[in-house]
Amino acid sequence: MSRPTRHEVDTDPVTGYETTGHNWNGIRELNTPFPRIVIWALALTFAYSAVAWVLLPAWPLGRDYTRGLLGLDQGEIAAEGYQRLAEARADWVTLFASGDFTALAADKTLMARAMPAAARLFADNCAACHGATGTGGPGFPNLADQDWLWGGDPETVAETLRVGINSAHLETRFSQMPAFGRDGMLPRNEIAAVADHVLALSSGKADPNSPSATLFAENCSSCHGEAGTGGLGVGAPVLVDDQWIYGGSRDDILTTLRQGRQGVMPAWENRLSATEINMLALYVAGLGQDGETGVRQ
Ligand code: HEC
Ligand code: HEC
Repeated sequence: MSRPTRHEVDTDPVTGYETTGHNWNGIRELNTPFPRIVIWALALTFAYSAVAWVLLPAWPLGRDYTRGLLGLDQGEIAAEGYQRLAEARADWVTLFASGDFTALAADKTLMARAMPAAARLFADNCAACHGATGTGGPGFPNLADQDWLWGGDPETVAETLRVGINSAHLETRFSQMPAFGRDGMLPRNEIAAVADHVLALSSGKADPNSPSATLFAENCSSCHGEAGTGGLGVGAPVLVDDQWIYGGSRDDILTTLRQGRQGVMPAWENRLSATEINMLALYVAGLGQDGETGVRQ
């Protein structure tokens, strides 16, 4: 390839443009300068950025950043927004601080305003474990039925939320299903017999005079109740229905009996306000009421 040779500037006959005079092996270059408007647009954006650097937060300085002369702060703007929202809701939200659940639940207009907010709190904080509609899943109890480990009235639910279950809170509710197999508390054949008894209990066919009923009375009833109906305030579930936290197949029950169970429900005292906990307690108490929110009347 030869270097461009200098030629006379002339006019291209097809386009009417002048050429630059360069000639590359017979190919000539039209002299079409960069459009002015683009240059101006670029100049303006440069000028704008220079102004923005001075007026707006722009430059990172290690741990800090330049604030800009206008002093804008998106964090503050967001915080003010929350503040305004909180003020707009203050008239009714503060009512939930009282924890007088009967009075709160009786105020239907209040409940109609508060329960959608409680539903959002539930979606944000609880649904990950208990499911979007509170129906739970393997390892996480159903909150939308009438079976309770500790109790489903709003006072009890509020306390469960405050301290958690087997949580790191100093006042945590504590519960444990012992590992009868692993810890050698019952021999294999008795574990199998008592598992069958649990299956029979849940299908309403348990024989109270069978040897497995005796095994149950001796080893299980102190926590699950003589009839397996729970409710003793030790966090042990009802065994006489077909609702299971860890599964109701014979294998699931054998696993529960061999290895024990100790579910953990986090404590919410330091993550949610007392007001929010009370709102959620009413919401959860209402979940069991045919899906309606409100407290048992
Ligand atoms: C990290 C998972 C997790 C999250 C998040 C969670 N829970 Fe729980 N929750 C559990 C587990 C597990 C249990 C059962 C503990 C056990 O087996 O003893 C439980 C138990 C409960 C109970 C006791 C039910 C009863 O029968 O007495 C209530 C009420 C409850 N959760 C409500 C909530 C609410 C409301 C939230 C949201 C603020 C929430 N939970 C968030 C895991 C969670
Ligand atoms: C010290 C009290 C205690 C004793 C004794 C006890 N349990 Fe439990 N059991 C619990 C607790 C608490 C849970 C719930 C554990 C959890 O949710 O993490 C539980 C859970 C279970 C479950 C799982 C239920 C489900 O919904 O998945 C079964 C089944 C069960 N126990 C059967 C028995 C049988 C059978 C015995 C006697 C051999 C027995 N338990 C003895 C406290 C006890």
